Amino acid sequence: MTFEKAPWPRRLRSQEWYGGTSRDNIYHRGWLKNQGYPHDLFDGRPVIGILNTWSDLTPCNGHLRELAEKVKAGVWEAGGFPLEVPVFSASENTFRPTAMMYRNLAAMAVEEVMRAQPIDGAVLLVGCDKTTPSLLMGAASTDIPSIVVTGGPMLNGWFRGERVGSGTALWQMSEDIKAGKMSQADFLEAEQAMSRSSGTCNTMGTASTMASMAEALGMALSGNAAIPAVDARRRVMAQVTGRRIVQMVKDDLKPSDIMTKAAFENAIRCNGAIGGSTNAVIHLLAMAGRCGVDLSLDDWDRLGRDVPTVVNLMPSGKYLMEEFFYAGGLPVVLKRLGEAGMLNRDALTVSGGTVWEEVKDAVNWNEDVILPVEKALTASGGIAVLKGNLAPKGAVLKPSAASPHLMKHRGRAVVFEDIDDYKARIDDDALDIDETCIMVMKNCGPKGYPGMSEVGNMGLPPKVLKKGITDMVRISDARMSGTAYGTVVLHTAPEAAVGGPLAVVRTGDMIELDVEARSLHLDIPEEELAARLAAWTPAADAPKGGYDWLFRTHVEGADTGADLDFLKGCRGREVPRDSH
Ligand code: FES
Repeated sequence: MTFEKAPWPRRLRSQEWYGGTSRDNIYHRGWLKNQGYPHDLFDGRPVIGILNTWSDLTPCNGHLRELAEKVKAGVWEAGGFPLEVPVFSASENTFRPTAMMYRNLAAMAVEEVMRAQPIDGAVLLVGCDKTTPSLLMGAASTDIPSIVVTGGPMLNGWFRGERVGSGTALWQMSEDIKAGKMSQADFLEAEQAMSRSSGTCNTMGTASTMASMAEALGMALSGNAAIPAVDARRRVMAQVTGRRIVQMVKDDLKPSDIMTKAAFENAIRCNGAIGGSTNAVIHLLAMAGRCGVDLSLDDWDRLGRDVPTVVNLMPSGKYLMEEFFYAGGLPVVLKRLGEAGMLNRDALTVSGGTVWEEVKDAVNWNEDVILPVEKALTASGGIAVLKGNLAPKGAVLKPSAASPHLMKHRGRAVVFEDIDDYKARIDDDALDIDETCIMVMKNCGPKGYPGMSEVGNMGLPPKVLKKGITDMVRISDARMSGTAYGTVVLHTAPEAAVGGPLAVVRTGDMIELDVEARSLHLDIPEEELAARLAAWTPAADAPKGGYDWLFRTHVEGADTGADLDFLKGCRGREVPRDSH
């Protein structure tokens, strides 16, 4: 990829606010001077917005204000003018009905914050799941030079000599309680062991996956994804990123120069190699939509099919992000992809060079953490995209987190109309279900939940767990936490709430899943399916207004990234007029 640097010096957009002697210039400049900034800082140097998703209610990002200070130091050193700006922080562990409902709102707010203010370049300080895609989506829609710094993962959790993976242990332990293998008291004791330092989930969950996606896309400096939050090198990364964004502004190295189709292809392949979250599918599709890059579910299946999962991290494998960092982190994985002919080596990164230049000298320091290909967790690690009469627009499954014996399975559907119906009946021993059945849940998609919650990995019925069974085929239009696992079919589209075929599945129907053939089939006559669909009527729960109305009226399907239809594309960095 070639990139033509803009000439420097030149007049930057921040000078529209600060660079002159008009009444408005004095208004913009003078008020900022109340913070003690000398006049020469307004001389045309790059103004860098440090867009910070810190919040006390986003504990995964709780340390980002300290990190912002290191970014500022880097910006000052490089001759820029740093200004920290709080932005919408969609916390995974507090937002209801689900943080996913607010990803698009956060992206919309970030886009407007960037465009409406004197920001020449942005450092995106992110961490918890939705904070990464939302800020990247907003940045893509302005095309203002931007660079990601993630907060980094928590240190390993340990409980009674065993690694405790964020989220993964939560799912495992709650199933153990239902199976009678763990006491409630032990579960409570394990709680503190799960989160023993600042940072994001320490598994290859969605936060670590999206940090890896940002790096694979070229939107973060090499090595950013895996450095633990509390490691001094995380602060170094923040400082050198602060230095780097100043030069990016001078060169006018924009998101559109970096987030190209080639970059998205690299990210998809990388996701297969790391055993990344299924949430990456939905976020990358949405990000590509902002960039005007033609990316589809079919690209996910095509590019990921032959990628072996070599990163031995929970939930697919054994280790945690701390060990991934010590082993060499993402550069090792990208180098491996490059050597296998699975990397667009020339894709540009925020470094100003190519991704291959960044990773070609990476060294794998632990072959039990980053496995040789012949010991891969699964040979076909990419996200499997399933199609059929039950998912005409597609559904996804993560092979590395699934059980091999269930990858081809025919079973009797046990249907739950929504999450409340599931919760009400799943623990009832009278429920007619065994391990050969297929659990089906409806109305958990973007419009249905609303927001598309991470409930697709429905816990198994206690009476099945007590037999020692740990996995069953589950199908829904929901998402699944990146920390979760199982033979779980997700993102079924069109979703039930808009009348997709999932809406008309009945308990007792036979369903066939064949991952190798990429098919998901409801085994009823075509005429019967057509008759059921014709008789289907939508639920009558109209939104009351506000953002709920905006979201449910405009959200698109999971198969295209679940963005709001009017937010797709790049609207650029220009604002039409001054504030007065
Ligand atoms: Fe925030 Fe996992 S819940 S990173």
